Amino acid sequence: MDRILVKDRYFKSFISEEEIARRVAEIGAQMSADFQGRQPLLLVVLNGSFVFAADLARRMTTPFTISFIRVRSYDGMSSTGELKEVIGLSEDIEGRPVIIIEDIIDSGFTMDNLLKTLRRKNPSDLRVCTLLAKPENVKGDFSIDYCGFNIPNDFIVGYGLDYDGYGRGLASIYVVDPEAEPVG
Ligand code: IMP
Ligand code: MG
Repeated sequence: MDRILVKDRYFKSFISEEEIARRVAEIGAQMSADFQGRQPLLLVVLNGSFVFAADLARRMTTPFTISFIRVRSYDGMSSTGELKEVIGLSEDIEGRPVIIIEDIIDSGFTMDNLLKTLRRKNPSDLRVCTLLAKPENVKGDFSIDYCGFNIPNDFIVGYGLDYDGYGRGLASIYVVDPEAEPVG
C-alpha cells in the first residue's frame, strides 16, 4: 500500500485518480444537463477546490462563467469554527443561477455561512456542489445538490486538499494513517 509523508504525518491511499476522474465526469454531465442554456456562475471556494474546479470546468458541456472566492475557517486538522469573511465576490449575482464549488464539506459551517451571505444577493438559483462530504459531521440547514463521495470522518489530503498547506498537488486522495505516529 502507498504510504506517503505530508509534512509530519503519514497518509495512505484512499481514492484513486481514476475514481475521481469518473465521478468528476459524472457530475459535469449532470450539472450540464441541469443547467442547459442557463449560463450558471460556478463560484469556486479557494484554496482547496482549485484542482476539482479545473477538472470539473473541462467536463461542462453547456456555457458557464467561473469566479473564485475565499472563506478560510480551518487551521491544521480541526475546524476553528470561526468564519473569515467572504473575499473576492466581485460579480453581481442577482438574478443569476449560481453553483458553489467546494472541495469538502466537513462540519458544514463554511457552507452554511456562505449560503446565508449569497442568498442575500438574490441569485435566481443557488446550488451546492462538493467533491467530498463527511455526512456524520455535516450540520446546517442546507442540502448538497452534487456530491462526488461521502466519506467517513477522517482527515484527508490531496487533489487540492491540504494538511497545513502541504499535499495539494497529490493527484489522488489520501487519508491520515491513525496508527502512524507523527514524525518530528
Ligand atoms: P467545514 O466548515 O467544517 O465544513 O470545513 C470546510 C473546509 O475545511 C473545507 O473547505 C476544507 O478546506 C477544510 N477541510 C475539512 N475537512 C478536511 C480534510 O479532511 N482535509 C483537508 N481539509 C479539510
Ligand atoms: Mg475548502
